Amino acid sequence: MNRTDYCAHLSATEIGRQVTLCGWVKRRRDLGALTFVDLRDSSGVVQLLFSGDNPALSDAHTLNREDVVCITGTVRARSEGNVNEEMATGEIEIEVQALEILNRSLTPPFLVEGDGSDTTEETRLRYRYVDLRRESMQRNLRLRHRVFHVLRSFFTDKNFVEIETPILTKSTPEGARDFLVPSRFSPGSFYALPQSPQLFKQLFMIGGMDRYFQLVKCFRDEDLRADRQPEFTQLDLEVSFPRNGKEEIFSLLEGALQRTFHDLLAEDLKVPFPRMTHAEALARYGSDKPDLRFGMEIQDISQVVEGSGFRVFSETVARGGKVAAICAEGCAGYSRSKIDHLQEIAVKAGAKGMSFIKVKDEISSPLTKFLTPETMSKIITAIGAEEGDLILILAGKTIEQGLGDLRLSIAKEENITREGWSFLWVTDFPLFGLSDEGKITSEHHPFTSPRSDDMDLLDESPLTVRSDAYDLVLNGIEMGSGSIRIHSRALQERIFSVLGIPPQQAEERFGFFLRALEYGAPPHGGFALGVDRLVMLMAHEESLRDVIAFPKTTTGTCPLTDAPMPVDDEQLAELGLMRKI
Ligand code: AMO
Repeated sequence: MNRTDYCAHLSATEIGRQVTLCGWVKRRRDLGALTFVDLRDSSGVVQLLFSGDNPALSDAHTLNREDVVCITGTVRARSEGNVNEEMATGEIEIEVQALEILNRSLTPPFLVEGDGSDTTEETRLRYRYVDLRRESMQRNLRLRHRVFHVLRSFFTDKNFVEIETPILTKSTPEGARDFLVPSRFSPGSFYALPQSPQLFKQLFMIGGMDRYFQLVKCFRDEDLRADRQPEFTQLDLEVSFPRNGKEEIFSLLEGALQRTFHDLLAEDLKVPFPRMTHAEALARYGSDKPDLRFGMEIQDISQVVEGSGFRVFSETVARGGKVAAICAEGCAGYSRSKIDHLQEIAVKAGAKGMSFIKVKDEISSPLTKFLTPETMSKIITAIGAEEGDLILILAGKTIEQGLGDLRLSIAKEENITREGWSFLWVTDFPLFGLSDEGKITSEHHPFTSPRSDDMDLLDESPLTVRSDAYDLVLNGIEMGSGSIRIHSRALQERIFSVLGIPPQQAEERFGFFLRALEYGAPPHGGFALGVDRLVMLMAHEESLRDVIAFPKTTTGTCPLTDAPMPVDDEQLAELGLMRKI
């Protein structure tokens, strides 16, 4: 029997037609003389009916969940009262004439229904081939495919060339640890899996390829979260001689996303996307990836409180710090434990403590002991708070992140985030930051160009230098980032030196690239979009694991294959390695 149709493509217009369908048994119900089977294939589900005099009935009685069958039958209308409005094929059923059981299934470890919350993630991943039959996984992976397809065709239309770059390569620093692969031919030497194709795409520009893109796997050995996987996919791109610097890159990305959202979600994105400098994003939202779907902006009240006589505030301002606040509308009724929880969030983000004012008939605040009623009302007026609001105040040198985290926590608790797609370009990132150990590190990566107007500050105050790096944020999540690159060897060497990489080490690690910069490197810049994250948001999912076919757990393991696995001593010896544990 050869399949003629897909289950969910059938509708009332096919009534009377004979069809042959193949798929999996979703469920069987025996109702006296009738047996109903829900049959599932990649398109969805249709109801099969085996009636009393059907020779296939005895076989139908043996069907269990996930058995694989092929049936031939006639499409008919369901009797009145049996129409299922919830089901795409709810108006019809297939009266089966012939049933062939193609394969049996063991009892599946979970039901292939719903969103998977009835089982553990570990079990879903161990039996991923069963989990993939779930409607949401089918939908998400098909959406993923279509996103890839639209992006490929968009950039191909714009004269970009998709070229693969090596997977067995040398370290390409993006701020994470490398995954290493030992070499059998050079015992004691290792390839590194690419954290991104950064240097190769720059070499493409030096090599005259003009415009490159690639849907490419990247590998980073870092702590995992819902929006991080050790291997993930980027839409990576690079442009030579970009028109007006980053402007051409911004408009390419805006066009690509506009087409993707239009074609796949029937959503019309407004372009150009709004922009904000990194400094402004931190000052107003306490984050370099602000979610603009709600307000609750940070307000600086340093001037209001500096002469208040309350030492914590006045000394903070005198020492060059800040006193700033956010206003949580309608939250004046928060309990002691809720306030304590908010305080914990602020402290975790580095704040020394948190103050609050509950704006009510009778103001309630620990500050009433230290501030006059006039100062209290000045604060309330400056913030524009109204009765019923809760003001949260932090004081210190670096309080932005604390206020930003409080803002996000309250928005989640109060569910005030509006629906929609809020894209934002964040520009002018600092070129350098400080690691926990106080070492100067690249904020983006070491190949990012400093802004030309900040070049003079490189030696005397590197931490104040702004870069030509930019991020694209969607609904408070970093979707991608890029920069205009350094294309002169001298400047690249200067950056390595600020980063504390001695010339000899720079030569060992990046000599091939420094040399290439001397053979006619054109001005260039580019971007990388995290496509797993993009598909996750487009699919309204909360974890990358729901849009990646075979993802890893938060400890980096694959429960399906049991990777990573120990290897035997013989294999290690061949690679010139010895087991220590
Ligand atoms: P960056 O390191 O910012 O830039 O990465 C670009 C985008 O890739 C996504 N991403 C991830 N997605 C899932 N899991 C991860 N572990 C993960 N890490 C990053 C994010 C991020 O914004 N070479 C530069 C780009 C350039 O300069 O052109 C780069 O890789 O969405």
